[in-house]
Amino acid sequence: MKEITITTQFKVFDSIQDLPNDIQELMTQAVEVRKNAYAPYSKFRVGVAIFLDNGKIVLGSNQENAAYPSGLCAERVAIFYAGAVYPEAKILKMAITAASDSNQTTAPIPPCGSCRQSIAEYEIKQETPIEIYFMGEIGAIYKSESLKNLLPFMFDKKFL
Ligand code: THU
Repeated sequence: MKEITITTQFKVFDSIQDLPNDIQELMTQAVEVRKNAYAPYSKFRVGVAIFLDNGKIVLGSNQENAAYPSGLCAERVAIFYAGAVYPEAKILKMAITAASDSNQTTAPIPPCGSCRQSIAEYEIKQETPIEIYFMGEIGAIYKSESLKNLLPFMFDKKFL
């Protein structure tokens, strides 16, 4: 028997003010677009801002549906929009913030498993890591240098 250990690494910023200027700006846009979440069922609002290598910023918020699985997370709204409108552009940076209408979220809130899988597809396609910053409503921001830190053992096209 052998054992495999996988380690993963994140940087921690104490607040938005501690982020580099460009990321502060990106996170501020994510906070702003979080208001556009259509979340009548969960009352949980997620905002995402993506910076592309063509200089454009693409935004997304979660969009829910009475048939629950028909809704979509903010991260996928944003990356699919980027893929649909700027298919040649690389996604360089992603800022994510999540807030609940019922209680203040203080812990960094990471993208769900399905969103990680979707982000992985683009990171592999573009052969360039995506920096991912995520936070709650207030409090610390975690930074991952690549989606790979958030999804060790990822399934991708090399297995097909
Ligand atoms: N949600 C996101 O937008 N991103 C995630 O990564 C996790 C969950 C949304 C989906 C749903 O509208 C609400 O948050 C509660 O799960």
